Amino acid sequence: MKLNSLNLWQKTVNSAVDVIRPGLKKVKHFVQPALDMPFLYKVKNAINVNDLRKIAEKRAHPMVFAYLDGGSDDEIALKRSVQSFQSIELKHAVLHGVSKKTMDLSTTIMGINSSLPILLTSCAGQKMFHMEGETATAKAARKHNIPMTLSQLTTTDFREVSNNAPDHCKALQLYVWKDKDLLITVLQRARECGFTSLVLTADFSWVGNREKEKRTGFSVPPDYNFKQCYGAFISPAWTYDYMSEPQYGYKAVPNANFPAASLVDFINDQMKPEFNWKDAEWLNSTWKSMGGTHCVLKGVAREQDALHCLDTGFDTIWVSNHGGRQLDCSIPTIETLPKIRDKIGSDTEIILDGGIRRGLDVIKALLLGADSVAIGRPYLYGLTAGGFEGVDKSISILKDDLILNTGLLGCNNIKELKQNASKILVS
Ligand code: FNR
Repeated sequence: MKLNSLNLWQKTVNSAVDVIRPGLKKVKHFVQPALDMPFLYKVKNAINVNDLRKIAEKRAHPMVFAYLDGGSDDEIALKRSVQSFQSIELKHAVLHGVSKKTMDLSTTIMGINSSLPILLTSCAGQKMFHMEGETATAKAARKHNIPMTLSQLTTTDFREVSNNAPDHCKALQLYVWKDKDLLITVLQRARECGFTSLVLTADFSWVGNREKEKRTGFSVPPDYNFKQCYGAFISPAWTYDYMSEPQYGYKAVPNANFPAASLVDFINDQMKPEFNWKDAEWLNSTWKSMGGTHCVLKGVAREQDALHCLDTGFDTIWVSNHGGRQLDCSIPTIETLPKIRDKIGSDTEIILDGGIRRGLDVIKALLLGADSVAIGRPYLYGLTAGGFEGVDKSISILKDDLILNTGLLGCNNIKELKQNASKILVS
């Protein structure tokens, strides 16, 4: 990702766009639906997550799709995360008498009630994908009664997101920060807005090498070079949406609206690669002293780190390799999961993410030791393809798939799946 502050050309184009923005907004109610009609039609008829991916690729600006879809270096971790699920074999059940009427896949995730063992993970800058942004994600989480985690790099205010899903948007994700006073202000604001869980993402203090972003000229903010302007021209639905709404900013800090450029400076200034277990211990106790209930470490891949989480006051371990966007060749999370579960025993909650593309993948993660899974790209493909309707569709696809396959395995609920794991898994 190329990060830069505004130059004269960017300032000029930004000002020009600001002049035409109100005019575009005035006629948005009939222009945007016309531009989005073919995409929404395809979203409605999408059969799997890969269909949503293809629609997202067609609607989005190429550099935005590269940011969403890409992994680091040769994308080995990204590819293998998906493939590792495919190579797990299962034995189905017969004459089990399970019907949809008796099936109940509800659970709790980080203390939040959920109808499914699925959580929408924290993903940055969602207005970049579709101007409905994090609000669309919150509405879909609420509709399906599943939790979402809000990224620290949200482009929608905490309050607005939580108002759209008060019982579902209760987990805030943070990166490691230098300024403890500012951090405390953010934590207080999160508590005021009803957040109960704090997720510390610990695999991002160095940013991975994403070559797709470099090839497509991805930059925050846009630098309006020829490639970017051409990309805007060939993605009219995305471009109109982007140009007809107020330019999005990042709402990382209460009452602030960092434009993209100053956010970049802010992140560069605030990221603290030296943040260590002691700092994490301080963060957890600060959150709990404010009445927060859950502390979660996201990005765990090693058994020893999982053990360390328990001594540091974390309640939940989130096994993740950041969707293959950081260290390439990092182990697929589904492969490290059973070892981590073995090491920490059965009492501590484990969330797994990375490579989930089908409901069957959710089941495989549960069988191998996870309590729930988080999804990133699957719902972002939906968001990019069709705003709320797209996120809704992606969750529906995974849910139907999950119910069907749980039935084929002869189980009624998550407990039965876990109890029968040794019979179901081909070892
Ligand atoms: C992410 N991820 C991420 N993680 C995080 O803790 N904070 C963040 O702001 C982001 N931002 C982000 C943006 C985009 C575009 C993607 C694809 C991912 C990582 C994310 O939470 C999760 O770990 C992975 O996306 C999981 O892998 P899948 O489901 O995308 O395969």
